[in-house]
Amino acid sequence: MARLVIVSNRVSVPTGRRVEAGGLTVVLRDGLRKADGLWFGWSGEFAEKPGPAKVTSRGRMSYALLDLNQSDYKGFYYGFANGSLWPLFHYRLGLVDWKAESYRTYRKVNAQFAAELFRLLKPDDHVWVHDYQLIPLGEELRKLGFKGAIGFYLHVPFPSGDIVEVLPAHAELGQALLAYDLIGLQTDRSHHDLLDFLERWCGAERDGDTLIHQGHRIATGVYRAAIDTVGFAKEAAASYQTPEVRNLEESLGGRTLMLGVERLDYTKGLPLRFAAYEHLLAHYEEWLHNVVMLQIAPVSRGELAQYRALRSDLERATGRIAGRFASPDWNPIRYVNQPVPRKVLAGFLRVAQVGLVTPLRDGMNLVAKEYVAAQDPDDPGVLVLSRFAGAVEELGEGALLVNPLDIEHTALAMRNALAMSKDERIDRWRRCLEPLQAWTARTWYDAFVHKLDEVAKAKGELPTAA
Ligand code: G6P
Repeated sequence: MARLVIVSNRVSVPTGRRVEAGGLTVVLRDGLRKADGLWFGWSGEFAEKPGPAKVTSRGRMSYALLDLNQSDYKGFYYGFANGSLWPLFHYRLGLVDWKAESYRTYRKVNAQFAAELFRLLKPDDHVWVHDYQLIPLGEELRKLGFKGAIGFYLHVPFPSGDIVEVLPAHAELGQALLAYDLIGLQTDRSHHDLLDFLERWCGAERDGDTLIHQGHRIATGVYRAAIDTVGFAKEAAASYQTPEVRNLEESLGGRTLMLGVERLDYTKGLPLRFAAYEHLLAHYEEWLHNVVMLQIAPVSRGELAQYRALRSDLERATGRIAGRFASPDWNPIRYVNQPVPRKVLAGFLRVAQVGLVTPLRDGMNLVAKEYVAAQDPDDPGVLVLSRFAGAVEELGEGALLVNPLDIEHTALAMRNALAMSKDERIDRWRRCLEPLQAWTARTWYDAFVHKLDEVAKAKGELPTAA
């Protein structure tokens, strides 16, 4: 069996101080363990002159972590990846802050990642590169002479070609994508747009879902990011007993909880969600004193001006809503910038009668899936879901769908969710749960890795065992 090598900007090493592991991280780690794999990425540390990647073993798998120069990291991560690509891929053209210098640094850091990784690669390794921070990595590995299979998975939306074209470097990024052997997307919509972009803007030919470019074949497909549905349900049921969850429930004093959980990011539609909640309180008076909205939004990418502006906007909106509606014994809104441990969060999601997932654009949104998995089957809550979240392709049948720009309609959906009969809640929840039982994080991992094996064989490698 070929060794699997995963590459991502952030790497969560167990017991390390990096972000807590979520569903996808856990499944990637489990897979690597079985395959004697390697996980390569940024160490989270800065160095004036970064040395070679440091390799540590954890059982059968290894981590190779690279320090980065701080100013390079700034250009790579804040400048290009999150200053240009992130807003562009989320359809926010007005926020794209193109700087040629940042793009050059993005390419430089990707080349650096590739050079360090190349030293650790064996010829028949299969490499799986993750996300928009590392689009050029595959092409850089090719330049160094790596001939093994390389797959790329995009965790964010891929927008229509008309949007991508706005980026001065769009053609170069297109060529970089065409260096991969396999490209995976989250949704049918992103898949369609990627094929269209690479065909119409970048000169690839199409043969079904395969692209052909200068004699090289690139397989593409939809691999929906998913969760460990059964595991998360168990976690939610168990964490219901923990003091944190009991305290939250007791603090509600019998009132109904609506819950939103996301990084503090302008793609998540939070100011509009707050406005919809304000509209609910102003127009559906039966909910005054009877509902609490809890918004958990850990601070993210705080060095970027748009993120700081968002934070101030939400602080003002929280104050305004409290000032306008609160009474001495009831505060309608709780706004928390601290992250909540996953286990506790699972219980919070179970307590909430309404789950609010209303992004302006989102690749998938795993919180939507976690909300569904966390529910009590005998008394489930209702998911209010944006039609612009990738999860809508699976959960659209059971969730209440909203366009987050339509504040009045979102408020109405909140009201309908709050007032929904138990029979309808159970029926909708079942329709949401079904696809999450059929396609889990494990299925996602297996499907991508299997396809990567397949394309490796087709490239004429030595046969690899399944
Ligand atoms: C999104 C992206 C990921 C990224 C995560 C956290 O989910 O798809 O690539 O890791 O946000 O963002 P951060 O900038 O904190 O790594």
